[in-house]
Amino acid sequence: MLTRIDCFRIFAVIIFLGFTLITKSISSKPNFLLFLADDLGIGDIGCFGNNTLRTPNIDRLAKEGVKLTQHISASPLCTPSRAAFMTGRYPIRSGMDYSDAGRVIMWTAASSGLPPNETTFASILQQEGYTTGIIGKWHLGINCASCKDFCHHPNNHGFGYFYGMPFSMFGDCQPGSPSEYQQDFQSQLHFLQMLCVGMITLILVKFTKLLHINGKIILFSGIFVVLCSIACYAQYGFLRYWNCIVMRNQEMTEQPMDLERSAPQLVKEAHGFIERNKHVPFLLVVSFLHVHSPYITTKKFTGRSKHGLYGDNVEEMDYLVGSIVDAMEKAGLNTNTFMYFASDHGGHREINGGWNGIYKGGKAVAGWEGGIRVPGIIRWPGVIVADTVCDEPTSLMDIFPTVIHLGGGKLPTDRIIDGRNLMPLLKKQISHSEHEFLFHYCGRNLHAVRWHDKQSGAIWKAHFMTPVFFPEGSGNCYDTFICDCEGERVTHLNPPLLFELSSDPSEATPLYANPQYMEVIHHIQLAVTEHQKTISSVPQQLSYMNNRWKPWLQPCCGTFPFCVCHKDINVTSTI
Ligand SMILES: *[C@@H]1O[C@H](CO)[C@@H](O)[C@H](O)[C@H]1NC(C)=O
Ligand SMILES: *[C@@H]1O[C@H](CO)[C@@H](O)[C@H](O)[C@H]1NC(C)=O
Repeated sequence: MLTRIDCFRIFAVIIFLGFTLITKSISSKPNFLLFLADDLGIGDIGCFGNNTLRTPNIDRLAKEGVKLTQHISASPLCTPSRAAFMTGRYPIRSGMDYSDAGRVIMWTAASSGLPPNETTFASILQQEGYTTGIIGKWHLGINCASCKDFCHHPNNHGFGYFYGMPFSMFGDCQPGSPSEYQQDFQSQLHFLQMLCVGMITLILVKFTKLLHINGKIILFSGIFVVLCSIACYAQYGFLRYWNCIVMRNQEMTEQPMDLERSAPQLVKEAHGFIERNKHVPFLLVVSFLHVHSPYITTKKFTGRSKHGLYGDNVEEMDYLVGSIVDAMEKAGLNTNTFMYFASDHGGHREINGGWNGIYKGGKAVAGWEGGIRVPGIIRWPGVIVADTVCDEPTSLMDIFPTVIHLGGGKLPTDRIIDGRNLMPLLKKQISHSEHEFLFHYCGRNLHAVRWHDKQSGAIWKAHFMTPVFFPEGSGNCYDTFICDCEGERVTHLNPPLLFELSSDPSEATPLYANPQYMEVIHHIQLAVTEHQKTISSVPQQLSYMNNRWKPWLQPCCGTFPFCVCHKDINVTSTI
């Protein structure tokens, strides 16, 4: 006969076992540490063949994990590529790509951004009990209708913690660096000039009495010209104050940001996040401001590399990767963590840096490999075999279903997800990538398509449109910072250009004379028709009107327009 006390003991033991089982299963959930570099070329990394830039920490991740040699971004520009990365969907599905010149978000005070009804992998992991954070660059919008609705903000997209730039590093953050807004500014100046000419004509006509003009018309048009000039100056004259800002969650901490402190601050934040959350499952995205121009680099790394300021900036970023991985090791989280490293798109060749190796084109060039083939590395000791290479086509969009699968969540079923779970491929349960086709968009225009024919193993790529390079063959586009997606500066190719990427990765020899040409193009065209049926019309986030500076959406530390602050200044440098 069991006594009451025995029953109690047995009961306690059962409870205890159950509890340990539950905590065990929670703690066996992997952590996620995802590094995303900005504008880094595939040819800038040691383990991808660069023998003069030193990137030992990134190389170590590859040595201990798998190197993805055909890792493809959904767009050659930041905003659309990041939207696709976060949602696992082509940016055209969320309205986050546009064929106009401003194909990235141009202002922190624009109403453009990742729509609130899009789901990021972070929001699904958050529902699964994960602590989630993003440190660094966001560039997917802040507000919709008022300066405090935060509808596009990381906190509203599944990231419990945000520290960094809601916008992006760019030339104008550093006084004296080349402006990236020159073109935009100039078109507004032309507009103002036209207004002034109109104004002067009105006055002349009035005083020469050629026509009778009411004095009020002159007065009102005068006021209009003055207001337009003030609005134009207010936008471009204070660019640094509007766009180069740092936030912690929804609080502004630096306006304008202190460039020197940005790197030390970023590692410090990453270390802090890891330390605070080492006992719970977490997802941390470290989205570097490196290696976007103007290449802000601390003293310790300046002048160290063999490739000028750009190289210094790459080497500093590598150091930051190492420092954050070390912090994971110290916290004992090394084995149970899925680590990922990639760049958002190809390197930016036009602004003195960024090397895309043998691949043609670069950032802002849509269809060619240089704009979209990026370094990709995944490391997960004990699960993924170390020092391996995967040459199959994979996409940045694959991180979405992979992370959700591993974190125990479910994929949304009310929308199309374009990414594929990478685990079966990485664990060698299947030998071919699940991507039969990848569509390479330039804004809303489909420029090229990649077909991985699993039977023959061939990787075909057809170009239907290509940007016109200037000078010819240079891989650069005219005077514009971004290649056009449609119009005069795009060549329509009919018949399409065809390449086979396994034998010709640098897309040097078009295969017009190949006996399979007709058959391959036909097959690709059928796939395009099927794909296009799945694209529905959605609000265009980057339309001209959405992508404007709207003073009422401007995050401001102080009373608008006097926006200045420098909080957290007592941070001691860890670099
Ligand atoms: C290494 O990277 C630098 C900087 O981008 C580039 O100039 C150089 O050509 C690269 N070297 C190789 C071998 O790819
Ligand atoms: C989000 O809302 C827009 C506008 O109402 C709609 O067109 C789109 O299909 C929605 N997206 C999703 C994923 O539900």
